[in-house]
Amino acid sequence: MAAPLVDAEYLKEIGKARRDLRGLMSSKNCAPIMLRLAWHDAGTYDAKTKTGGPNGSIRNEKEYKHEANNGIKIAIDFCEEIKAKHPKITYADLYQLAGVVAVEFTGGPTIDFVPGRKDSTESPEEGRLPDAKQGASHLKVVFSRMGLSDKEIVALSGGHTLGKAHKERSGFEGAWTKEPLKFDNSYFKELLKGNSEGLLKLPTDKALVEDPKFRSYVELYARDEDAFFTDYAAAHKKLSELGFTPH
Ligand code: HEM
Repeated sequence: MAAPLVDAEYLKEIGKARRDLRGLMSSKNCAPIMLRLAWHDAGTYDAKTKTGGPNGSIRNEKEYKHEANNGIKIAIDFCEEIKAKHPKITYADLYQLAGVVAVEFTGGPTIDFVPGRKDSTESPEEGRLPDAKQGASHLKVVFSRMGLSDKEIVALSGGHTLGKAHKERSGFEGAWTKEPLKFDNSYFKELLKGNSEGLLKLPTDKALVEDPKFRSYVELYARDEDAFFTDYAAAHKKLSELGFTPH
């Protein structure tokens, strides 16, 4: 599909959609799943073939029915309400805008948002998103396929400061932090504490303290929230623009 024309009118709609997204997040407490939607649309990117990525293709039934996307339809449907009010905005832009707003709305860093993404109806094959049951080497393979570094893996994993796992969606249950609607560096503090009563650690979360290179970033982000926010905002922007060249 063609790239949208990003003119003054488009930017005005983006501003209005931001407000509508904030309203939705405050009435439905849905910031976490909106961030997960943005990440799952973008995280299929393959730098070699330049396929997948933040192109709105997760709205296709074929893709949202991939096992890793269990539950994501809830966020797709929330975005549909915003799309109906701002039809000019592409799905690709809308989902990434939702991710950026989710982080800001919950107290995280401001993330630079550049609109103009094209929508795609072509979905990548199943299996490109990371498998929570695996370890550090798997994370490195999957994220380097997207073009992301070890540091970016750790910073982005801090997204688990928000939300929770649901047994019926992923087989895992529980939140990573005590305040799952607050974006802060508590995910890293909890990781270093080891097992905290009632909080979740996926095998891929534990891998971040087991691998020495990952661990140095976990320690940095646990003691320096500003460093986390700076690196998170840069990594999130990169994730949201994989395969996209702003024009
Ligand atoms: C939730 C895996 C990275 C944001 C989840 C869940 C799993 C998972 C299994 C639970 C889903 C459910 O049961 O509802 C992983 C793995 C990752 C990863 C293996 C590899 C590093 C990320 C990244 C972000 C992110 C990079 C964002 C920057 C979230 C959020 C939720 C979540 C916000 C909570 C959703 C909710 O509350 O409904 N993730 N994730 N994750 N993930 Fe990740």
